[in-house]
Amino acid sequence: MKSYEQYLYEIKNLLREHDAKLIAHYYVDQSVQKMAEDTGGLVSDSLEMARFGQKQPESSLVVAGVKFMGETAKILSPEKNIYVLDPTATCSLDVGCDFDEFKYFCSKHPDREVVVYANTSARVKSIADWVVTSSIAVSLIEYLTSLGKKLIWAPDKYLGQYIIDRTGADMILWNGSCIVHEEYKSSELKKMIHEYPDCDVLVHPESPRSIISLADVVGSTSRLIQASKDSKKKYIIVATEKGIFYQMKKLSPNKIFIEAPTAGEGASCKSCGRCPWMKLNSLDKILSVLTNDENEIHIPKHIINSAQKSISRMVSFREKMLITKAS
Ligand code: 13P
Ligand code: SF4
Repeated sequence: MKSYEQYLYEIKNLLREHDAKLIAHYYVDQSVQKMAEDTGGLVSDSLEMARFGQKQPESSLVVAGVKFMGETAKILSPEKNIYVLDPTATCSLDVGCDFDEFKYFCSKHPDREVVVYANTSARVKSIADWVVTSSIAVSLIEYLTSLGKKLIWAPDKYLGQYIIDRTGADMILWNGSCIVHEEYKSSELKKMIHEYPDCDVLVHPESPRSIISLADVVGSTSRLIQASKDSKKKYIIVATEKGIFYQMKKLSPNKIFIEAPTAGEGASCKSCGRCPWMKLNSLDKILSVLTNDENEIHIPKHIINSAQKSISRMVSFREKMLITKAS
C-alpha cells in the first residue's frame, strides 16, 4: 500500500504536468482534503469551490466532490478542462429534480421567478433565473422578497422551508431532499443534547425543521466550520456529513465533536450521516484521472451560456454583499 507521502509526490508532479489544480469539498475523505491543501489547491464549500476555480491561472481543474460541483466549475470556466474523480458521484437532490418535470412545473407558474439550489444538473440551472448555494440562499431570497417577487424553489424542500421560515418568502417548493440530512432524528438528538448539556448543536439547513429547531447555529459547511471554531463549548454536536470533522478538529483540537444521531438505541449505526457519493472520491482516483485523462466534464455550449447567467448573478450578488459589509 502506498503511503500518503508517495501519493503526494506523484499527484503533485501530475498536477504540474497537467497544469491543473485540485479543488475539494469539505465532505470528501480527509486524505483527499489534505491532498488539496498540500498541493496548493482549495478545500471549501460549494460556492467557494466555484469561485476559486474561476480565478486560477491553471488550464485544468480536478474537482473532488460530486457531479454538480464539477459542472458548476465548467459553467463558470468553460475554457478550462474540468475533471471529476468519479462520474457516478451524484447527489439525491440533483437526481430528484428531473429537467422535463421541473420545466413543466415552472411552466405552470409563469408569474414566479425560478431559484434553484446549486445541487442540480446544468440543464436545470439553465432554466433558472437564479442559482444559489446554502451560504447565500437566505440573503438572496430576502433580497428578492424585498422586491416583491414570487418564487419557485427547487429542489430541497427542507432548505426551502427553512428559507421561508427565515424570510417569509412567497415560495412554492419542489419536493426534493438530501438522503443524508433528512435522516437525522429529533427525538434522539434531544436525548443527546440532554446527555451533553455543555454543547453547541450545528446543523446544515438541508435537515428537517425538527432538527433545525434544536440548532444553535444553522448554515452552510463553511459557516458551520467557523461556528465550531468560535464556540466556547467543549462538546459540539454536528448534523452534517462526517467529512467536515477533519477541518473542525484541525481548528479546535481540544473540543469533542459528536455526530448527530440518525437512529435510536440498538441500531447497527446510530450516527450514519455519510454521503455515499462523496465517499467515492479517493487518492487513487486522483492518480487515475490525471494519468488517463478521464472523467472530463462536457456540457453543450447553449446550456453553459444559459446556466452561466444564473450562476454569475449569484457570484456578483455575493461580491456586492461582501463590499457592502466591508464599507
Ligand atoms: P455547502 O454548499 O454548504 O458546501 O453544501 C453542499 C452540500 O452538498 C451539502 O449537502
Ligand atoms: Fe447531495 Fe446530500 Fe450528498 Fe450533499 S450530502 S452531495 S446534498 S446527497
